[in-house]
Amino acid sequence: MNPLMLPLAQQFGGTNGFLGTRGSLMLDVVFLAMFAVVPLLALSIYVVKYRRAYDLHKKLQIVMGTVLLLAVVAFEVDMQFLTVWEERAEPSPYFSSQSKWSCPAGISLLVHLMFAVPTFVLWIVVMVQALRLFASPPKPGKHSLSHMLWGKLAAVGMVGTAVTGWIFYYLAFAAV
Ligand code: HEM
Repeated sequence: MNPLMLPLAQQFGGTNGFLGTRGSLMLDVVFLAMFAVVPLLALSIYVVKYRRAYDLHKKLQIVMGTVLLLAVVAFEVDMQFLTVWEERAEPSPYFSSQSKWSCPAGISLLVHLMFAVPTFVLWIVVMVQALRLFASPPKPGKHSLSHMLWGKLAAVGMVGTAVTGWIFYYLAFAAV
């Protein structure tokens, strides 16, 4: 029997997602979560920049940081131990296991990782430094200049991570 005729649940190792693609459960969760994170990040920067709502900005960033950290941990457990992403990407016209890092899906994963890895480190640094160096409740202070520079880079990095992640997801797990 052609393996593509099998029900989705029987085709791949790990737990399947819910988006009707070849994504695993955690791939789908993270793919969707980024659609919440990007507008929330825009809102958080808007309220601090135009409304001077420092405390709301702090709360929004802590919620986002915590959710993202939990998602990254769950995602890594899934990718390292449960899901073989190459197996799920194999039916895509943009993926080939023979040229894993030079096919479009592989290149898009490399670009995605170039955003995701530094952004992960940057978020931890920006978060820890903000919690250490701003007053509580937070208000502008000596840490402002550095926070505004690195905070902007961290925000741009997160949007880049989301966009490149969505592209990789499509190329590897949705395209037919
Ligand atoms: C990764 C997490 C965070 C990111 C990406 C981030 C991002 C930003 C950005 C881009 C701005 C500048 C807005 C502008 O252009 O005026 C800003 C301002 C600010 N943030 Fe954050 N932030 C984060 C976490 C925090 C936390 C945890 C706190 C509090 C402990 C905080 C407190 C502030 C304050 C007080 C300002 C205003 C600075 C001023 O106007 O002088 N931020 N943040």
